[in-house]
Amino acid sequence: MKAKKPIRVGMVGYRLMGRAHSHAYRDYPFYFDTEMIPQLQGIAGRNEAEVRAAADKMGWASYETDWHRLLERDDIDLIDIVTPNDTHAEIAIAAAEAGKHVLCEKPLALSLPQAEQMLEAVNKAGVTHMICYNYRFSPAVQWAKKLIDEGRLGRIYHIRATFLQDWLMDPDFPLTWRLQKKISGGGTLGDLGAHLIDLARFLVGEFQEVTGMMETFIKKRPLGTMTDNLKGRAVSDQWGEVTVDDATLFLARFHNGALGTFESSRFSRGNRAGNRFEINGEKGSLRWDMENLNNLQVYLHEDEPGLQGFRTINCTEEEHPYAGVYWPAGHIIGYEHTFINLVSQMMDGIAAGYNPQPNFEDGVKNQAVLAAVEESVQTRSWVHVSSFQ
Ligand SMILES: NC(=O)c1ccc[n+]([C@@H]2O[C@H](COP(=O)([O-])OP(=O)(O)OC[C@H]3O[C@@H](n4cnc5c(N)ncnc54)[C@H](O)[C@@H]3O)[C@@H](O)[C@H]2O)c1
Repeated sequence: MKAKKPIRVGMVGYRLMGRAHSHAYRDYPFYFDTEMIPQLQGIAGRNEAEVRAAADKMGWASYETDWHRLLERDDIDLIDIVTPNDTHAEIAIAAAEAGKHVLCEKPLALSLPQAEQMLEAVNKAGVTHMICYNYRFSPAVQWAKKLIDEGRLGRIYHIRATFLQDWLMDPDFPLTWRLQKKISGGGTLGDLGAHLIDLARFLVGEFQEVTGMMETFIKKRPLGTMTDNLKGRAVSDQWGEVTVDDATLFLARFHNGALGTFESSRFSRGNRAGNRFEINGEKGSLRWDMENLNNLQVYLHEDEPGLQGFRTINCTEEEHPYAGVYWPAGHIIGYEHTFINLVSQMMDGIAAGYNPQPNFEDGVKNQAVLAAVEESVQTRSWVHVSSFQ
């Protein structure tokens, strides 16, 4: 039996992603045979009553009302950032300078230059870093990656990917941080499109050029704040301007010659979390849908005529990455397990002193695609995605 080593986590923020990450740290050693044991050491938030309640509910040993305090503590090894996007850079850079490992929610930053500064800081400090593009860690997506890497699909021609939601369609839904560009950096593109970009980079390859269009369907909303689970509450009778997109569509060409279409929207009635992709290659196709995340649909053209068709593989067998640590075959896992799998990579990286993927370099490459799509919308043209050395 391996000696256990605690990894003492300090987390900034405690709401939607705070819950997902707290749960992942708690459950990771339950399922994985690991020497690294995350400890919920300290949580930070600005409102004392709320952060204390969050610490009690989620099992954190202590709380702070100023995140800088977590960085000053020598009983914290890893800083986890689950706050709105305008805070990521300041916290991540300060955490790296304090010698802490960093796990940051997506998108990495508000802009490409800011993301590059974050990468420079973690590289300079030599700490382990990851960005939380968690959908890569569904066993079915990992299996898709393996099939593509083995050449089962042959040359990849297309990816079409959508992330469709409908929680913002009520015109009275308040103007929360996600709808303010200065805090979020962008609307559905940075929130949902960033996940699609990560899946496409993981499965298809690097983006070469993009062209897109965006729309903000509801231009003004009552001022308000997020509560939990993508809900909001009005905080005044004043209204403010929505400064981000409600929907973004873009086309892409990849360096390997593949083509892609991407659609992110919060105005797709009936779609709660329609995070889906289809990939078509010369020898086969794959389909995945987050709302049914254990399943991968696979079409292989080498199948006998008459038996050809999409088959549904329930990726819960021992062969499927991560699936074996959970339950017997057919006993499905859920959204939260993608975060546990991601945490397992972070812990392996800290133990062995390397940066698992996706890390801040992936965050920068993703941000470069986001920036190119935005520029293409403004200039109504095709824009090359800046290459990263
Ligand atoms: N990986 C995913 O699937 C996924 C899903 C949702 C959100 N996210 C990302 O996670 C991050 C947080 O999103 P969320 O949905 O949890 O947000 P949220 O609004 O539910 O929670 C934000 C938390 O940050 C705290 N906070 C806000 N401003 C702060 C500040 N200036 N200093 C310190 N704390 C502050 C709030 O009190 C709250 O605890 C964002 O970057 C978002 O893009 C990722």
